[in-house]
Amino acid sequence: MNTPLRDLAAAAVLVLAAAASALLPVARAAEHGQPAPAPAAMTPGELRTLLAGMPAGDPVRGERLHSAQFCASCHGAKGVAPTPNWPHVAGQRAAYTVKMLVDYQRGVRAEGERAALMHDVTRDMPAQDMADIAAWYATLPLPHEAETPRPKSTVSASDVLHLVRKGDPSRLITPCASCHGAKGQGGTGDGKASPALAGQNPQYFVRTMQQFHGEVRTNDAKRGMRAFAGKLSTAEVEALATYYADLPAAR
Ligand code: HEC
Ligand code: HEC
Repeated sequence: MNTPLRDLAAAAVLVLAAAASALLPVARAAEHGQPAPAPAAMTPGELRTLLAGMPAGDPVRGERLHSAQFCASCHGAKGVAPTPNWPHVAGQRAAYTVKMLVDYQRGVRAEGERAALMHDVTRDMPAQDMADIAAWYATLPLPHEAETPRPKSTVSASDVLHLVRKGDPSRLITPCASCHGAKGQGGTGDGKASPALAGQNPQYFVRTMQQFHGEVRTNDAKRGMRAFAGKLSTAEVEALATYYADLPAAR
């Protein structure tokens, strides 16, 4: 029973990967050396309107969709990705998950072949499915896996804590915790689309920060994360990735 299901999931991933690289206009343009510009990021007002118009999410249905649509084959049965390279989705804020699914669907989050895969799986996804999947992820505990190697960094633990809690006014870096929560649990209220970072895969964390830095990931409202990431050194980003990866375990 188990093996055919796994084979099916593996086949689906291959088909998705092939479809993503063969069919996507963005990917095609990039092959010819002319990356198509991604559509502009949602403004905070557009995000509020989107979230207000979303149907209520049903986490039970969301769990079923997560396996039926093969999300589980890449993000893990319980939202903890088996591959160090892919993001965990367990415990993520529902508003952020919804925004990402819409950003991938619209091609606003289009940082390369991995994002192209996500564009493909969300292409025809109705709002109800997005709401249900996001509601289920939000019910799961934040990941805390210790197997993925943490990047080594020369930045001291106290300097990292300072960045997280106080930011760096001389570089106009706002404290990470002011948006991502004191425990990395994600934002609430107006900032509820600020993602949880606690337990996130450190390799994914570093890569996505580099993509903000290089203006490759451009779906952040008001260029906020691009501005912060652009001012951080590689060593600081690596230290922050390790700090957040270990955060749930430290609680
Ligand atoms: C073939 C593997 C694969 C499949 C299948 C897949 N994903 Fe992903 N997903 C990824 C990768 C890789 C990324 C990171 C892409 C990037 O760097 O832009 C990602 C990113 C995401 C993100 C954003 C995470 C973050 O922290 O920003 C969400 C949410 C997500 N996927 C949900 C889903 C859902 C829901 C499904 C099923 C409908 C799904 N994924 C299917 C590989 C996959
Ligand atoms: C002003 C609020 C704010 C501050 C301050 C802030 N962030 Fe963010 N961050 C966000 C928002 C909002 C997003 C989601 C962007 C999007 O829509 O894609 C985000 C996204 C991220 C992501 C991507 C998460 C994922 O799953 O893909 C990482 C990593 C991150 N921030 C790290 C940091 C770090 C480290 C700091 C401190 C140096 C920081 N952020 C400071 C608001 C903030």
